[in-house]
Amino acid sequence: MSARVIAVVNQKGGAGKSTLAMLLAGSLADQGRRVLVADADTQNTSLRWASAGEGFPAEVEDVSGEDKLHKHLKKRLDNYDYIVIDTPPAATAPVTASALRIAHLALVPVIPSPPDMWASLRIREAIQAAREDRNPDLLAYIVVNQAQLNTILAREVLALLPEFGIPMLAAQLKSRTAYRQCAALGAGIAALGSRAAMASLEVDALRREVEFLLSV
Ligand SMILES: Nc1ncnc2c1ncn2[C@@H]1O[C@H](COP(=O)(O)OP(=O)(O)O)[C@@H](O)[C@H]1O
Ligand SMILES: [Mg+2]
Repeated sequence: MSARVIAVVNQKGGAGKSTLAMLLAGSLADQGRRVLVADADTQNTSLRWASAGEGFPAEVEDVSGEDKLHKHLKKRLDNYDYIVIDTPPAATAPVTASALRIAHLALVPVIPSPPDMWASLRIREAIQAAREDRNPDLLAYIVVNQAQLNTILAREVLALLPEFGIPMLAAQLKSRTAYRQCAALGAGIAALGSRAAMASLEVDALRREVEFLLSV
């Protein structure tokens, strides 16, 4: 079967696009899936992450110079089960539009704090534009990142999320040093073993929800 394509997008830098893309790709690859991370951000966070160690389980390719990313990836769909695109923090950039054109699923990591959420609103328009243009079946979900759900502020902020008009995944990522360690070690979460048991459960839940959404 042809690869299912996931675009990780947000106008906001630092929202956790690269972290989400790499944790998800690593987890899918650890399940024996053939996974490509297409790093479309000139900052090349994903590429550096994978180069920081020897054992990152998914393939990572620098596609930041590809203007027509959808065309480039179309040729490679048969080689993978999943392609995860890590995009730059630019809702209106051609490369973001190109990623949203080929994607089956857009994931929008959002940190639950008001300035982050305001900055994230622009991506909703980019997703809508992709649907109206050529990708009417594009699925889109918010992924709450660096969640701290036990605070009153976080609850109030999360209550704002429906304004996005994009549903939220049930799975969330908490703020955890384990995720930063993965980047430092060039690893996926499984490589941290029992040191990161809670983080591992969190990433598994995320991966399972994504697999379910993309199952046909
Ligand atoms: N859930 C998390 N827990 C801990 N640190 C995180 C988490 N998500 C992101 N970070 C850290 O926040 C910073 C920005 O994340 P990154 O994934 O690079 O964002 P983006 O790709 O959207 O710019 C990085 O230093 C990353 O390690
Ligand atoms: Mg990034």
